[in-house]
Amino acid sequence: VSATTTETPKKRQAAGGTRDRGFVDEMRAVAMKLHTRDQAKEGEKTSESPPVSKWEPSVEGYLRFLVDSKLVYDTLETIVQKAAYPSYAEFRSTGLERSEKLAKDLEWFKDQGHTIPEPSSVGASYAKYLEELSEKDPQAFICHFYNVYFAHTAGGRMIGRKVAEKILDNKELEFYKWDGDLSQLLQNVRDKLNRVASSAKHGFSPELFVPHLLQSWSREEKDHCLEETEKSFKYSGSILRLILS
Ligand code: HEM
Repeated sequence: VSATTTETPKKRQAAGGTRDRGFVDEMRAVAMKLHTRDQAKEGEKTSESPPVSKWEPSVEGYLRFLVDSKLVYDTLETIVQKAAYPSYAEFRSTGLERSEKLAKDLEWFKDQGHTIPEPSSVGASYAKYLEELSEKDPQAFICHFYNVYFAHTAGGRMIGRKVAEKILDNKELEFYKWDGDLSQLLQNVRDKLNRVASSAKHGFSPELFVPHLLQSWSREEKDHCLEETEKSFKYSGSILRLILS
């Protein structure tokens, strides 16, 4: 079942009104401010580039974006498998994984006669950065993890629809389909992020008793995670711009 028709910004905000307001709300607030006004109504930045509605994408540019995105998702998905920090293991098999979906999409483009490019230096440098960060700075790494997966389900999907309208005869790629109810998958990951950042707040409950999670993040560690948001926007923004290259 494709979840693309069930998760809407309205529902997302409605969910925000009732759910447990944990650290994820802080991460979201910082991210929303880094949008421009034309990207999202909570955005506070002024835009320098044209709004998505005015984009004139090319298939070649879009392929560069998809290839670099796949490299980033491959990297994130390998990092949580390896789990250099035990808390990363919480983020295995969330249902948000995109690597296999992108592999299918790239196969489809190939079958259509397109040449699939090698990853560019933009994606390669982000992948390298993520690998390094994941081994030495778990709070900063989690910031990227959150932003990459959640951005794709919000603005990323909107961009996908617009690009498909303009150059793919409205074909919906696998990249924009999730198995199961997307709202629920996102909520499960929000709960896990909240738990990893502040498990101690939840007190003792046997099913949440994971020794390495008992230590909640200090205010400094939380702020450090939030401060990384700008870098996340910088890297993901440059990968998005490949669509127009
Ligand atoms: C959410 C647009 C780029 C991170 C959103 C929302 C929109 C949006 C419309 C939904 C707001 C709502 O819930 O009502 C865009 C557009 C972008 C863009 C048009 C670029 C052209 C980015 C980038 C990042 C990012 C580069 C960071 C890597 C997020 C996050 C959310 C979000 C974390 C919150 C998602 C959630 O609450 O589930 N964006 N965005 N966005 N965006 Fe973006």
